[in-house]
Amino acid sequence: MAEGDGAELDMTGDEIDEDMTGEESDEEEASGQEDIEGEEDAQSVSSNASSEEENSDDPDRIDPAISEEMERFAHTFKGFEKRYRLVNKIGEGTFSSVYKAEDLLYDHYDNSWDIDYKDEARWAAPPSKRRRTGRGNNDIELVRPKYVAIKKIYVTSSPSRIQNELELLHDLSGCDSVVPLITAFRYQDQVVAVLPYFKHVDFREYFRELTIPHIRSYFKSLFRALAHVHANGIIHRDIKPTNFLYDYRYGRGVLVDFGLAEREGTDSQYCMCQHSTTDRKDHRPPTITPSIGYPKHETRPSRRANRAGTRGFRAPEVLFKCTNQTTKIDIWSAGVILLTILSRRFPFFNSSDDVDAMIEIATIFGKQRMKQCAALHGCVFESTIPTIGERGFTLEKIVLWATNRTATGSSKDNRDDAKLDRDEALVIKFLQRCFELDPAKRSSAVEALQHEFLASPDWESPEPEH
Ligand SMILES: Nc1ncnc2c1ncn2[C@@H]1O[C@H](COP(=O)(O)OP(=O)(O)OP(=O)(O)O)[C@@H](O)[C@H]1O
Ligand SMILES: [Mg+2]
Repeated sequence: MAEGDGAELDMTGDEIDEDMTGEESDEEEASGQEDIEGEEDAQSVSSNASSEEENSDDPDRIDPAISEEMERFAHTFKGFEKRYRLVNKIGEGTFSSVYKAEDLLYDHYDNSWDIDYKDEARWAAPPSKRRRTGRGNNDIELVRPKYVAIKKIYVTSSPSRIQNELELLHDLSGCDSVVPLITAFRYQDQVVAVLPYFKHVDFREYFRELTIPHIRSYFKSLFRALAHVHANGIIHRDIKPTNFLYDYRYGRGVLVDFGLAEREGTDSQYCMCQHSTTDRKDHRPPTITPSIGYPKHETRPSRRANRAGTRGFRAPEVLFKCTNQTTKIDIWSAGVILLTILSRRFPFFNSSDDVDAMIEIATIFGKQRMKQCAALHGCVFESTIPTIGERGFTLEKIVLWATNRTATGSSKDNRDDAKLDRDEALVIKFLQRCFELDPAKRSSAVEALQHEFLASPDWESPEPEH
């Protein structure tokens, strides 16, 4: 990067960052950048919010406060307006704001990241609009605007964390189900990642309507992404519906948000779960006689482990602070998404902290299995909560309850002997493989893709409209 104080972010293309810091390259001058800048709709932000193409794409009006925010951002990030025109704000997470933007210099760069372009021959193109291209005398032609997503990472994020996200995205390029990093820029303390824009639908709008073939298509896409990420030795750590942008109408999904991702083995230390069952017996922690309440003077050393992730999606080994977490934590989180879809309840787990989360998991899986799970990581699980039974409940029962198909459901007509149909029963078998409490026994992404449920023929998705 051009400026000295951000050298650790320097991995996505020097020449581009220099452009953003104000110096124009020869290439830009020769390519008619001035024309593009002077063009009416290539100015900034909100004034164009009501233009035809935006109204058809984003029917919502832009909130004046958001317009102002976008305008401020585009003006203060030096060089930004030459390259991008912010269209709308599309996401606000814990660590970033994400905007949809028109890529004004699309034609000047290699766009091998553009899946839509690659598939253009197969899919019908949307209406184009007239605009100035800056390519000589006859420079008015029909051009379809190209959109990107600009992820503006909050300045409160540490440089190493930002670098980690960009590096991992960069390393993961090459899989259609994982978001590729187009480029990244820094200006002063502000870093933006530029990603392809993926049209998608809010999970809450469709998850109750998904049929079994749709569910298969969703998870095929998600597990393909996970297989790619895991094959690269990377744990995503934050698998949840808002990080998997899925367009249910066309069966296309893309995994995003590597803000919490890490390379497997980073900071790993010995954990008892690395031993086989027989070995583990010899390494058992000193017997603790369970007693009610907390010891007044805790003598055991506190345990530190990465617990990054989202409440309700954390695997049991994360809750038990396993110090040797693996890619299997992502498989558990994918299982939580599947349980959400099958139960038609979102969020399915709604704990306020990790202890609550353990109680929720223990209620389903039972005290016995939870104790075994705790012991796997050198912990002890004890509970006197009456709703946590010794054996818990089957996943089939949970889904039947959640969808009001048993006597304890709301309808009087329901019967206790209600059963899932054959397809649903197969999905439950698949879910059991994602919900193995022992990560070593839990399915890997590759194994999941070979499971009878996902290996069945694809649902014929319609061709996407752009
Ligand atoms: N490439 C993209 N195309 C379209 N929308 C996107 C894209 N990337 C992100 N978004 C939208 O922005 C939201 C936030 O993005 P992201 O998850 O990367 O940020 P975050 O700050 O880490 O969020 P969180 O803390 O909620 O996980 C996403 O849930 C999605 O709605
Ligand atoms: Mg996110």
